[in-house]
Amino acid sequence: MQDLEQLKQKLLDEAAEAADLDSLEALRVRALGKKGEITQRMKTLGQLSPDERREAGQALNQVKDALAEAIETRREALEATALEARLQAERIDVSLPVRPERSGHVHPISRTIDELIAIFGEMGFSVAEGPHIEDAFHNFSALNIPEWHPARQDMDTFYLKAESEDAERPVLRTHTSPVQIRHMLSDKPPLRIIAPGRTFRADHDATHSPMFHQVEGLVVDETTHMGHLKGTLIEFCRAFFGVDDLPVRFRPSYFPFTEPSAEVDIGCSHEGGQLVIGPGKDWLEILGCGMVHPKVLENCGIDSTRYQGFAFGMGIERIAMLKYGIPDLRTFYESDLRWLRHYGFLPLDVPSMVRGL
Ligand code: PHE
Repeated sequence: MQDLEQLKQKLLDEAAEAADLDSLEALRVRALGKKGEITQRMKTLGQLSPDERREAGQALNQVKDALAEAIETRREALEATALEARLQAERIDVSLPVRPERSGHVHPISRTIDELIAIFGEMGFSVAEGPHIEDAFHNFSALNIPEWHPARQDMDTFYLKAESEDAERPVLRTHTSPVQIRHMLSDKPPLRIIAPGRTFRADHDATHSPMFHQVEGLVVDETTHMGHLKGTLIEFCRAFFGVDDLPVRFRPSYFPFTEPSAEVDIGCSHEGGQLVIGPGKDWLEILGCGMVHPKVLENCGIDSTRYQGFAFGMGIERIAMLKYGIPDLRTFYESDLRWLRHYGFLPLDVPSMVRGL
């Protein structure tokens, strides 16, 4: 009995002092495992007389329970320490600045699209998309652009090969307006979308690129009128250029798909050769707009006696060049890293109307 008492103390000490989970497990096997010291002793109980057996059995069970408990206590402590060490070692400080070798820049086109989405998103518009390769119906006919219209000529439009001799030639969309058509055909009013994306025209010089970006806007509802068109676009121009008192002018114009149509100019001045956007004596044209032509609504199965709407479209490069002082359109697509570092934006600096653009 006395040596059992000593053994118990020795095992409990070892449990309390076990340096790690492995040695704790080794101890468990050595004492309580199949061939463990305590287990072996249990097996010898059969040789004792019944009275002795009861007493020795109780004593052994006590040692067994005490040891099991000590091992469990130590395991919990060791596990807590291990977890604490891991938490320390694997800590990530998310507020640290981006490592220099990782700091990419967001292209001004992407940035401008994000800003457009932030502004119009706040006004309740959602984003719609459509294909770059279109058919003549979506790109022209549904938009009330007649067969003879100069925009349809090869000089302005990129035509792709037709599938067969009597099939129509697909086009690279010349504007984002086909997205309005697709949206009116697939959804029911009320509609409120913007459609930013790539567009293509056979044009190439310092201010024109064969591929460029537009953003289209479309609102259709029962009570939508020209006042909504004006309010929306004035609000947009002021938010986008960050000038609260920016003068915005609507000039009568013509588009086959809107009636009446207007072109929108914003105020600017040229002080000492420097273009400044804001109140001044000059004007800059930035977008086209109008009330959706009843024929276009009807082409899309919308009852034009019940619904009306407005639409607008503008070049994304153009407004980005004006806002960020980028002088040459062609540089947008040259993939020059030095240009991107200069004109690009930090990836984590996402525009939002809450923080200001
Ligand atoms: N689609 C026209 C263009 O490319 C822009 C526009 C869109 C004008 C919608 C009015 C309404 O020039």
